[in-house]
Amino acid sequence: LKKLCRVHAREARPVKSAAVLGAGIMGGGIAFASALKGVPARMKDISQGQLDLGSGEADKLLARQVRQGRLAPDQAEAVRRGIVAQLDYAGFQQVDLVVEAVVENIDVKHAVLAELETMIAEDAIIASNTSSLRIDDLAVPLSRPHNFVGMHFFNPVPVMPLVEIVKGEKTGMAAVSAAVGYAAAMGKTPVVVKDCPGFLVNRILIANTRAFCQLVADGADFELVDRAMEDFGWPMGPAYLMDVVGMDTGSHVCKVIAAGYPERMASTWQDVLELMVGHKRLGQKTGAGFYRYE
Ligand code: CAA
Ligand code: NAD
Repeated sequence: LKKLCRVHAREARPVKSAAVLGAGIMGGGIAFASALKGVPARMKDISQGQLDLGSGEADKLLARQVRQGRLAPDQAEAVRRGIVAQLDYAGFQQVDLVVEAVVENIDVKHAVLAELETMIAEDAIIASNTSSLRIDDLAVPLSRPHNFVGMHFFNPVPVMPLVEIVKGEKTGMAAVSAAVGYAAAMGKTPVVVKDCPGFLVNRILIANTRAFCQLVADGADFELVDRAMEDFGWPMGPAYLMDVVGMDTGSHVCKVIAAGYPERMASTWQDVLELMVGHKRLGQKTGAGFYRYE
């Protein structure tokens, strides 16, 4: 598989400029990771507040790089100039690849993808960062599905090495190669996976989430579960991980995977995640999830 990815990376038309649609947890991280490796990234959202958050996070991460002596101040400046926050599609005609990273909702993604396709060059690639939705299902409103591919980054993007590259039935090899090449250029490890609900990693991760929610529904103390799993060796416990991911995203992903594999995924997770979503305790992004964030 690694060899296959190396071949794709070699054959890829290099992505010299990129864009992300959605400046949330993932879009902001992808734009930062791209610009850091010299590929400027436009970052479009429908909310100025979200653009400000994404830009602010990039500022913080760059300041840290400078403090640690990894970047000179002028290099950090150049990276920062590569991240252009915007509410419109200005400059999208010139980009080689756009990563769609809006909310995990198929209707919203369909509307966004159909509009996006009219705003970019004929041969530009669209990569969806969906966590769970099949690429073939997302491709339905597109007139150029051969230019559409999955590119599933992990959170937090600046430090997580893996990127799942998802080839739909109509995805062309040029799109797969471009996505593999772009991930490699960002210093990530791409892995080409099949198109199915949840792809590879989330089919495993969400089984853990489900088991955790079952424990909570049974009355377990989430903090004790987190401490135990950290002592067991996980980098973070399942409750904190859900706060990092976002309860709304986690809940959407659970639904898609439960619908894809009904026999494996009973619906116990709903009681916990839906309750949290109902109370607007979405995690770090709303200041409270399982834990509170000042
Ligand atoms: N953004 C940028 N950099 C970050 C960061 C963030 N949010 N969090 C940590 N880092 C950096 C730190 O700055 C530090 O960098 P330096 O070494 O350069 O100083 C480095 O990561 C290590 O940080 P820490 O020592 O503070 O923390 P750690 O050792 O616990 O590692 C971690 C942090 C890598 C995030 C680790 O906790 C981890 O692997 N957690 C699990 C994350 C995970 O499972 N993500 C998947 C979520 S699910 C998903 O993404 C799929 C989906 O579709 C929902
Ligand atoms: P988020 O809620 O943090 O951000 C979503 C962003 O999309 C918001 O800024 C919102 O304003 C914006 N948006 C909504 N409609 C839009 C539109 N029409 N045009 C432009 N922007 C629009 O969500 P997130 O966690 O960044 O997730 C984004 C995508 O990445 C989802 O598909 C999710 O499944 C996937 N993903 C999430 C994670 C994670 O851990 N959070 C990990 C991997 C993949």
